[in-house]
Amino acid sequence: MSPMPASDEEVLASAVAAFEAKAAALDAIAHEFQAQMARGLAGASGSLKMLRTFTRQPTGRERGRVVVVDWGGTKGRAGIVELAGGGSARVVAEEVFTFSEALKRGAVAPVFDVVAAAIGRVVDAQPAGAYPLGFVYSFPARLERIDRAVALALTKGWSLTGLEGQDVAGLLNEALRRHGLERITVTAVANDTVAALMLQSYRACGAGEAKTADIGLILGTGTNQAADLGPAGIRNLESGNFDGVAAIETPYDAALDRELQEPRPGAQRFEKMVSGRYLAEVLRRVLDDLGHRTSRFGWSSSAFATPFAVGSEHLSRIAADQTAALYQVDALLRGLGVTSTRPERHALRELSGAIVRRAARLVATALLGTLRFLDPEVAGRRTIAVDGSLWGGYPGFEALVRETLDELIGRERTTLIEIAFVKDSTSAGAAVIAAVAALQRSERCGSA
Ligand code: BGC
Repeated sequence: MSPMPASDEEVLASAVAAFEAKAAALDAIAHEFQAQMARGLAGASGSLKMLRTFTRQPTGRERGRVVVVDWGGTKGRAGIVELAGGGSARVVAEEVFTFSEALKRGAVAPVFDVVAAAIGRVVDAQPAGAYPLGFVYSFPARLERIDRAVALALTKGWSLTGLEGQDVAGLLNEALRRHGLERITVTAVANDTVAALMLQSYRACGAGEAKTADIGLILGTGTNQAADLGPAGIRNLESGNFDGVAAIETPYDAALDRELQEPRPGAQRFEKMVSGRYLAEVLRRVLDDLGHRTSRFGWSSSAFATPFAVGSEHLSRIAADQTAALYQVDALLRGLGVTSTRPERHALRELSGAIVRRAARLVATALLGTLRFLDPEVAGRRTIAVDGSLWGGYPGFEALVRETLDELIGRERTTLIEIAFVKDSTSAGAAVIAAVAALQRSERCGSA
């Protein structure tokens, strides 16, 4: 006798359950993360690159006017930041610019031209004179000096022909020359996680309550951590590439990893289960599957038929709808070309919530890996500086991360962990890094 076919309710419930991540599995993943940090630092093979950053914690003496630029996700920013010392960083001017989809998959020079042109527009209004530039390059790069960063494979859907192996600071300097901006020179390159960490630490040099950051975390289009490892210096973990997640992977995750070309299968495994670029795509794939296996979600003619057409901002809006009939979800779906039933909206909300909840639990797990690396007992006070659109935009994300930490190491220990949201940290953070580099240079000259 063949088994009874599962009801729609049962199929839905098992899809939601597939995204559950139990504490025991997460604890094992945190230990593996910690072990891979050690392997990466020792130069052994593993998925955590533990890249050097050539910067150190700020002293509070960093001052001056710095040109900054941030390239690394969906949007770029160019700006001018004034550091007045003692924790004060003021963004004097800033321009947000976007990259077209064509630019993301083309030649190298046009992208640097877009970046240089934006810098040109913000510095035009500044008094004449030479300016240092802090460049936040939010992709993997192997730094050889604070102002030399060799590009590794790109992430977040970017793929530029011939970028890998080239120094991105040199490329930006060349583009600045092409734009007649000889007076601007890249003096520091850093990852966005390092910018978040450094801005928080710089603020800690002021009179307020802020504390020096041990960890910088970004959770937006992509995800990554930087950490101050003491004698090993501040490192860019490139934690989005962590691959020890197989124990909680679903068939949807495996298919996404297999089918995407950029980044290649096997790369950015953690990021593909956690960050804003991928979460809604995972949801879209689940809905497509359930559309075939249940009488719900027959939405094939809508945006849900197009990869990456749904974004994490949609997930945030779904979570924010508190109405019983989910009117806001209804409006959102109509905007995406879908007429839905009330049970479909409730199921959608449940699935979306399960996917984001798993992401938050994985974020907590990777943080625990780093915290344990810093101190196996997690017994001391720690500060994590966080920035990014998913963390800042998804209702209750931080609470989910905290709950998971409580579950994994107990409330007593997690109360010692401070999480500081450093919104829009890249510009001011880049300025701090450039100013630290200037002080380091002057110290070297002074000691000669
Ligand atoms: C990049 C990291 C970056 C993170 C957050 C990842 O895809 O590889 O370098 O820090 O996104 O922007």
